[in-house]
Amino acid sequence: MEYSVKSGSPEKQRTAALVVGIHERRKMTPAARALDAATGGAIAQVLRRGDMDGKPGTTLLLHQPSGIFAQRILLVGCGKERDFDEGRYRQAIETAARELDQRGAIDAVSYLTELRVKGRDIGWMVRQHVEVTEATRYRFDRMKSEVEPPAHPLKRLVLSVPSRADIGTGERAIEEGLAIAEGVTVARDLGNLPGNVCTPRYLAEQAQALAKKSRKVKVTVLDETQMEKEGMGALLAVARGTHEPARLIVMEYQGAGKEEKPIALVGKGVTFDSGGISIKPSQAMDEMKFDMCGAASVIGTFHAAIRLQLPINLLGVIPATENLPGGSAIKPGDIVKSLSGQTIEILNTDAEGRLILCDALTYAGRWEPEAIVDIATLTGACVIALGNHAAGLLTNTQALGNELLAAGRQAYDRAWELPLWDEYQKQLDSNFADMANVGGREAGTITAACFLSRFVKNRRWAHLDIAGVAWKQGKEKGATGRPVPLLVQFLLNRVEKKREA
Ligand code: BES
Ligand code: MN
Ligand code: ZN
Repeated sequence: MEYSVKSGSPEKQRTAALVVGIHERRKMTPAARALDAATGGAIAQVLRRGDMDGKPGTTLLLHQPSGIFAQRILLVGCGKERDFDEGRYRQAIETAARELDQRGAIDAVSYLTELRVKGRDIGWMVRQHVEVTEATRYRFDRMKSEVEPPAHPLKRLVLSVPSRADIGTGERAIEEGLAIAEGVTVARDLGNLPGNVCTPRYLAEQAQALAKKSRKVKVTVLDETQMEKEGMGALLAVARGTHEPARLIVMEYQGAGKEEKPIALVGKGVTFDSGGISIKPSQAMDEMKFDMCGAASVIGTFHAAIRLQLPINLLGVIPATENLPGGSAIKPGDIVKSLSGQTIEILNTDAEGRLILCDALTYAGRWEPEAIVDIATLTGACVIALGNHAAGLLTNTQALGNELLAAGRQAYDRAWELPLWDEYQKQLDSNFADMANVGGREAGTITAACFLSRFVKNRRWAHLDIAGVAWKQGKEKGATGRPVPLLVQFLLNRVEKKREA
């Protein structure tokens, strides 16, 4: 869809639909008031008659209002004015986007951007409008044999800004919003594809496609023989249980000078996690096709970085494999040697994410990155701790952690920190190897991060456990594309800081 920004009063707009907010109870927003005045009280009338009282999630469409140029007015319930916040704003946008796609309008002008969310400026309002509209319109139907496209999809959306002076900010916000939306869409598609399509080789092809898109991108893919040569014993241990060949995908984006150290993004790419010999219960096991959403977020973030031409260097490393219980699969008690030289006693083959990530983290270290951020659907314990709202964040460098937490708040793709204290490390003690791959029931998210921390000593590193946020369950089952917005915001902030320096 096409987006643009414009300043001007609603009663003057020539459009198929004007979108304006109504607060509970029947409280008009400024745009609604202006339209009410121009239409001789048409809005006040429907409110008075009780057809709309502004409850969140509700809408009312007025047709052919007299006194103005627009064909329709879409009233969108925004809830109580005092309670209006980021979540409510996003809900109002989503409600409007759904409604507009089911009506005849092919273009619209939205005044939802004029609503007040504490601490958020017009750039933020515009960017979120783009991101949420794109996310709402997302469909994953490429695996269905028949799809009915919407009869009259919206084609152009104009977002209102307060004055001409805000046009530049607004246009920048649209660019960023569209880049993030593209990254999110890519990540959602990869996540939603089934395990028999989205294999390690498929992920590698998708990464390689990036190199075709931009001359600034270089992609290298290691196969199992090459990984063997390097000594990636932990990653290869997981790959033993399946016939599907593993891959280590390396993506380099050079947006800045060669001498500048890259930011490394390392994404868990388990394209299906059965648990291996420590097999999972069959309940909801299909959702383990989403166990590559960390990898998908790295590829999605690269898409956004390329689109925005960020003046920064990026390294993406994706260890990709299935975790299956084949005849050659690793068994509880097996001991393997990681690329770092450290040995690992595998007490639970379902703790495979850390096994592939540890070798990827060691490998990423060869680039001497400025910072390493890994993104992984790593522990069910993180879902228990934080639910679906926040990713877990653990770090060995508080300043880096703070940057990521702030980026998450800015992008409304939030993370929450858990401690990485030394005391937890001893849960990984093993009688037979340098460490065990599991640390018992207690503090599962923390001990998983403790394990990873042993492979990034002397580096600035942060870990995002996205097990709770990467996909939705139930009727809305599907990948969310998180934490692409957080990661892109983190990079945008880095660019901004560089510019100031
Ligand atoms: N991919 C899972 C984590 C997961 C489970 C994410 C459920 C989302 C929902 C990971 O590989 C795993 O199986 N982790 C184990 C670790 C345990 C064996 C220490 C877990 O969380 O149960
Ligand atoms: Mn597992
Ligand atoms: Zn897993």
